[in-house]
Amino acid sequence: MSVKFYRAENQVPLEMHKVRVVQKLTLLPVEERMRAIQAAGNNTFLLRNRDIYLDMITDSGVNAMSDRQTAAMHVADDSYAGSESFYRFKAAVKEVFGVDNVLPTHQGRAAENILATRYITPGKSALMNFHFTTTKAHVTRMGGEVIELVHKSGLEPINDEPFKGDFDLKELEETIQRLTPEKVGFVRVEAGTNLIGGQPVSLENMCAVADICHKYGVVSVLDASLLQDNVYFMKTREAQCKYMSTREIYHLLADKMDIIYFSARKLGFARGGAIISHNSDIIKGLMEFIPLFEGFLTYGGIDVRSIEAMAEGLLESLDMDYISHGPEFINYLVKELDDYGVPVIKPAGGLGAHINCQEFVPDMPHNQYPAAAVSAAIYIAGGIRPMERGTLSEQREPDGTERYAELELARLAVPRRVFTLSQLKYVADRVKWLWDNRELIGGLKWVEEPEVLRFFFGRLKEIGHWQEDLVDKFRQDFGDSL
Ligand SMILES: Cc1ncc(COP(=O)(O)O)c(C=O)c1O
Repeated sequence: MSVKFYRAENQVPLEMHKVRVVQKLTLLPVEERMRAIQAAGNNTFLLRNRDIYLDMITDSGVNAMSDRQTAAMHVADDSYAGSESFYRFKAAVKEVFGVDNVLPTHQGRAAENILATRYITPGKSALMNFHFTTTKAHVTRMGGEVIELVHKSGLEPINDEPFKGDFDLKELEETIQRLTPEKVGFVRVEAGTNLIGGQPVSLENMCAVADICHKYGVVSVLDASLLQDNVYFMKTREAQCKYMSTREIYHLLADKMDIIYFSARKLGFARGGAIISHNSDIIKGLMEFIPLFEGFLTYGGIDVRSIEAMAEGLLESLDMDYISHGPEFINYLVKELDDYGVPVIKPAGGLGAHINCQEFVPDMPHNQYPAAAVSAAIYIAGGIRPMERGTLSEQREPDGTERYAELELARLAVPRRVFTLSQLKYVADRVKWLWDNRELIGGLKWVEEPEVLRFFFGRLKEIGHWQEDLVDKFRQDFGDSL
């Protein structure tokens, strides 16, 4: 239930927690920010944290832990095999999902590696509402193909659809029939669809996907990394969920899906990951890969303190006071930007605010990487670190041609329980300034382009002197302000 303000501006999100441990931040002068992004090859991944004021590159592994999580870390049980910490994690999984079988993995992509290794062979396809970078890389590494079946509304930057991450169910069924079930490695539902703006999937759609998989004997997989935001949206946007408890929703999903995996860097405010399933035969088929790639079955490559934090954090994922914080802060930021005319993905989703760079810099071609250019410009404007989620984050086609992204997004992630409202107001203010000066933003070109996951460590150079011009304009408008 939201709290009403007597004299509020927009709906103001209210934190149901207080800050008790703090970390000092620095904000460099704008000239130094420009030098830092140029030294980082215009890739926000290559910036050093000391040069960043607000780190909005991701929500992964940077969520604030609770007092209960840090307390739990003190009682971790260190042992190679049979650690009590693992059994506490297993009990938390049982409480949240109702599932007994748990395989720990060191993070989400490790679970993806194991699923791809088990289910994908050359010629097989993985059907998804939308790909995630690491998921696709693992499927293609095994010689498989990713087919995206998100409902067409998911790729429209703006509409009123509450669940833009939904599968197109008709297309899903037709694709399984066309390929034949034997050629489908698995069907993966990504909760809180990352690359299209953190957009949720409805409970109804997830259950329908599981039913279709069941009908054709195809394995259904839920990527639950962003499930806590998604559950918030189910509770607030989907009639059938209004009177269900969060626990009932998690349990129902685990009953419907063959496999659930997650990154605990997102789900559970911690670090680590896991694969869970009610089906013991499925677990047996995956289990052998855990000691091979991760570590023994009771630690999976995760240190025991993180396992304790994961256990406690998973339990907190049931609590609407906690899980509403991210989506409500994001909604506030999106509304602030939208009211000013900045093109943003709407409705607001989870994970972060997403700027639509095709409209921010409409004349810039895909091959000058508009989302990366806007991300670099946001860093220069405010010491704020976004993440490029556009063409740069795509893989080239097997013949080497560019694959242009459907959406060119600069993502401002809002790590959970981390930022204050004044910090978000500052972000909105600097992005509004950049919007007013958008004609100064120029493109980028490659200096070093890695073959795999190029967005992580590729280096680019600005075309022309647009960054110097942006700094000059900043000085004109802000005087000696940082
Ligand atoms: C939806 C989704 N799945 C999987 C992953 C991979 O998880 P990890 O970063 O823990 O490897 C991520 C990470 O951002 C994600 O957003």
